[in-house]
Amino acid sequence: MPVLVVGGGMISAEVVLPTLFQEQSRGLIGKISVATRRAERIQWLRAQLPGCDFRALPDPDADGPDAVDPESYKHAIAELGPGGVVIVATPDHFHTPVIEEAIRTGHHCIVEKPLCLKVGEARRIRDSARAAGIYVNTDYHKRHDRAIRAAQKKYRDGALGQMLHGHAWIEERREMPLHWFANWCEHSSPFEYIGVHYADAYHFITGLKPKRLVAFGQKKLLPSLGKDAYDTVSATIQWEDDSVLFIRTGWVCSEHQTALTNQGLCLMGTEGEYWSDHKDRNTYFCTQAGKFEHFNPNFFKGHCDWNDPGKVEWVGYGYDSIKQPLDDVRGIHAATAGMDEAAALAKRKEMIAALEPVRPLPDQALIGTAINEAVRMSFENESAYVHFGEDMELSMR
Ligand SMILES: NC(=O)c1ccc[n+]([C@@H]2O[C@H](COP(=O)([O-])OP(=O)(O)OC[C@H]3O[C@@H](n4cnc5c(N)ncnc54)[C@H](O)[C@@H]3O)[C@@H](O)[C@H]2O)c1
Repeated sequence: MPVLVVGGGMISAEVVLPTLFQEQSRGLIGKISVATRRAERIQWLRAQLPGCDFRALPDPDADGPDAVDPESYKHAIAELGPGGVVIVATPDHFHTPVIEEAIRTGHHCIVEKPLCLKVGEARRIRDSARAAGIYVNTDYHKRHDRAIRAAQKKYRDGALGQMLHGHAWIEERREMPLHWFANWCEHSSPFEYIGVHYADAYHFITGLKPKRLVAFGQKKLLPSLGKDAYDTVSATIQWEDDSVLFIRTGWVCSEHQTALTNQGLCLMGTEGEYWSDHKDRNTYFCTQAGKFEHFNPNFFKGHCDWNDPGKVEWVGYGYDSIKQPLDDVRGIHAATAGMDEAAALAKRKEMIAALEPVRPLPDQALIGTAINEAVRMSFENESAYVHFGEDMELSMR
């Protein structure tokens, strides 16, 4: 099962590729390739991942370190071979063309959240993936955080009763828009980039769909530093059962914040409450190099390998949420091996339909996309209410 990663940024270097090389070393996936826009990125990636072998497009050795190819993903998908998986890790506003090319050429996909930024695009992806029997999973890794899964279980068991209201916060250090996303922070916002995790988590926990929302955005610090981007965005989402979730997001936290991400969730139901600080996991390091840090052992951390302590084993919800879709695709391949195309298509459709209620396939990922689009509609229209229809169509009235 060859795997292509499109986009060679932070998430690819820190989570996606280490996960893939681990899966490869366990014999679970085949060749790994990476397509980026600029060959310079590949050089950076190679420096981040010493000793890891992957095919690169554009290739700095063959094409030169200054090579630029915005269509490298098309060439890389064309040469991926049968049974390949495409992992989409480009900026949020450039997911759709890559996903659509993968679907068109018959490759299953894993997409870094959010699926895309527009409801119309998400519906198009859902419908074409269903018609072609293609698996498209959005990497909403918070679903794999045991602190969130615990809330889902209690809610589904009825221990929290009916949802009343809740509060989520997720805010990152200012290095994100100023350094890591300097090229695209003006096209996104802290809500679209990270806040959507908690919108999806609420849907994951409760199964509820949004009814209407109102959002607010502030631009004060970033414009003074040369970026026409939002510092903070917050939204209050009313759900179909009339419960309400307030989500507070930002990406201008102090450089001295003791973790990259300050985050957590509180829920109140008719029969019980849930409080969870997802930054402070009661684990801290204080070192000369790293100063004082809140350490989240649950996200994506390298541990000493059980059998060879000199090697690193990657564990955590960041790993689990990429491994699960890779396993799903492997299951689809195994179930359809040796079938003719018509029988394989029918089998893929049947398996994917069975996974739709329990995975962030496009029908569920559509909700995060719709909330993202509605949040932007609201804060760009003097914080008007935005309403959601049955299939997530948006309206302001
Ligand atoms: N799952 C998560 O929780 C999580 C966490 C962080 C980021 N993300 C998402 O992952 C995606 C990437 O984030 P990032 O942090 O790596 O961003 P980044 O800006 O660090 O990297 C994006 C990469 O995409 C490349 N790219 C841009 N256009 C391209 C094209 N036409 N063809 C090929 N490559 C292209 C850029 O060169 C860059 O290497 C975003 O959608 C982001 O929201 C998800």
